[in-house]
Amino acid sequence: PIVKELFGLSDLEDEVREAFGLKRVIVVPGDSDESDHVKAELGRAGGRVLRESLSSGDVVAVMGGSTMAQMAKQFSALSQMKENWFVPARGGLGESVDYQANTIASELAKRAGARYRMLHVPDHLSEEAYQTIMQEPNVREVVDMIRGARIVVHGIGDAVTMARRRKLVDGTIDELVKDGALAEAFGYYFDRHGRVVHRMATAGLRLDDIEAAEMVIGIAGGKSKGEAIASVMRFGHDDVLVTDEAAAREALRHI
Ligand code: G3H
Repeated sequence: PIVKELFGLSDLEDEVREAFGLKRVIVVPGDSDESDHVKAELGRAGGRVLRESLSSGDVVAVMGGSTMAQMAKQFSALSQMKENWFVPARGGLGESVDYQANTIASELAKRAGARYRMLHVPDHLSEEAYQTIMQEPNVREVVDMIRGARIVVHGIGDAVTMARRRKLVDGTIDELVKDGALAEAFGYYFDRHGRVVHRMATAGLRLDDIEAAEMVIGIAGGKSKGEAIASVMRFGHDDVLVTDEAAAREALRHI
């Protein structure tokens, strides 16, 4: 708190909270684009918020990405969370192993002494293969668990950056740009009004589950993500945002 006052970050937190109608905003000093240390601090702050939000028996659905990975790697529990579950929020999205939601869920569970389930859905499934996989009792069971998660934790990315990282074909990327996609979160692409313009075909959390979840926590920082953060906040289902100073100021420019 003393550091926050020094940097004037409590005012910035209030401003962002009010601008986007959030319940809670945490801003760490600096810019994740410029410094790995800031990104690590962002992850640590995200982990703290998650720990404070957890009650015994909660199922937590987590997304992937490098920010989520930072969070998982530093997560610490006060005591073993044997009654908690960590599950990946969505199936394969084309991320490298370190950044996959499955990896993040298992890492968090290990660090928390909690349980986890994996969702093994390959990337780029055909509709037919998808329907077949969804019939598998194992997959069904995990998907039901994911869809009933009380807490959802996710990163936010710039739309084109994420589309490229996940190797979407050029034609799809052009379409995204044409449709005004600015942000990606939960495998969905959003425009500046917070409207969904594209979704990745995979199993797991759907938009109505995100709306139904009791607590949705977004963790994202870096000036380059400011506009993307604003557009996901406009989607309007996050309760908590954990960000950095540079992203917070940039997001406010796009209200
Ligand atoms: O959905 C957004 C991405 O998972 C964010 O990834 O944290 O590596 O930028 P990142």
